[in-house]
Amino acid sequence: MTSPEQNTSPAPDVSASLTPEQLAQATLLLGHSIDFPEPDTIRQCPNAALVIHQGRIAWQGPAAELPVAQQAFARVEDYGDAWILPGLIDTHVHAAQMPVMASWGEQLLDWLNRYTFPAERRFEDPLIARQQSDVFLDALLAHGTTTAMVFGTVHEAGTDALFEAARERRMALIAGKVLMDRNCPDYLSDTADGGFEASARLIHRWHGTDRLHYAITPRFAPTSTEAQLERAGALHSEAAGLYMQTHVSENPDEVSWVQSLFPKARDYVDVYEHYGLLHDRSVLAHGLHLTDREWTALREHQTRIAVCPTSNTFLGSGLFDFARAEQEGVVLGLASDVGGGTSLSQLVSAAEAYKVGQLKGYKLTANQLWYQMTAGNARALHLQADIGTLDSGKMADLVVLDPNRSANLSARLAQATSLDEALFATLILGDERLTRATWVAGELRFGA
Ligand code: GUN
Ligand code: ZN
Repeated sequence: MTSPEQNTSPAPDVSASLTPEQLAQATLLLGHSIDFPEPDTIRQCPNAALVIHQGRIAWQGPAAELPVAQQAFARVEDYGDAWILPGLIDTHVHAAQMPVMASWGEQLLDWLNRYTFPAERRFEDPLIARQQSDVFLDALLAHGTTTAMVFGTVHEAGTDALFEAARERRMALIAGKVLMDRNCPDYLSDTADGGFEASARLIHRWHGTDRLHYAITPRFAPTSTEAQLERAGALHSEAAGLYMQTHVSENPDEVSWVQSLFPKARDYVDVYEHYGLLHDRSVLAHGLHLTDREWTALREHQTRIAVCPTSNTFLGSGLFDFARAEQEGVVLGLASDVGGGTSLSQLVSAAEAYKVGQLKGYKLTANQLWYQMTAGNARALHLQADIGTLDSGKMADLVVLDPNRSANLSARLAQATSLDEALFATLILGDERLTRATWVAGELRFGA
């Protein structure tokens, strides 16, 4: 990796671009800015200023070069030595599954039946769905996550509640109603036609509204009939730029089951391919037991894999093959997969990814992992024009982390001799307790 560099790119003159009236509505954040525009590039500015106007970063650079007096701003927050980073991004998580985290003793298929399906039933009451969506989104923000690709449940009104809660917070959320018409309890089952109609209504209500996007969401091949998968593929013509999210090849018993349910398919990936569900806005969670043909197909369709390391170790599913993904050029996202995953913190996901890499003989660097949590995940989700770095013009989705909130980490950082070393120790030892503040579209949504 390259050595961390000072951010010296010239910033536009904010006093020239904002009128005094606009400045009087702008917010100034001061702190140690750090971002990761590439897997091998770290930019930092220890005494940085970020000017936020109308939800976007209007100017960023060394505070000493700020061309306007601090008194000109409506609001000033001085975070001192704390780190101002781009908001973290989670590429695969389930809104209804926080109450399922840390459920003992089962692997995927039994875990779904025993714990997960009963928990998702609670979203059938729209008021409970709204209350749980509020809890879920506030938890994401408390963990420094400002954008996520989210599974709702099979319920249309419950998924409305999730979108409403995200819109109130002005979050960029990609979400969808689960499609599931077999091999699940009756209380969670839709039908091929009913699932299509409900998804189409949700697409028309939410896709492109504010910062929201819709993802067509078949749960996974075993819980959809061929008729439902066909209708899921047909949903793509309801709007441009729709996403698709599902699960693939997570657990060996699941893979065998898919083979028996779809005897004509070449393999698991082929099921999705056959119904036109694979493209560059498709995000498949897991991908742990893929064949050579499946890797090739994912590369050819530019389909993303959401890597969910805390889920994979917790459910005993397997270890992701980072070397193979790199060799194939498959674009990756990092994800919590709560409730299979054991933390909403992307620092914890990144730490677990590092450990999985170690078990497989693949060394992920601090720069690669921080990039993945921010700009890398933004690219995986086609959101890089708006989020992922601290460049002027990006949305002001930010997290402020204070490594000194952890005694362990503070002691470790006292010995660090480089930013790279400090960043590595922080992702290994840190978690949501480091979050001092989270800003979304220029509004403070967590902390102070
Ligand atoms: N496969 C199908 N549904 C799920 C789910 O909810 N979580 C995980 N980890 N895998 C799945
Ligand atoms: Zn999942």
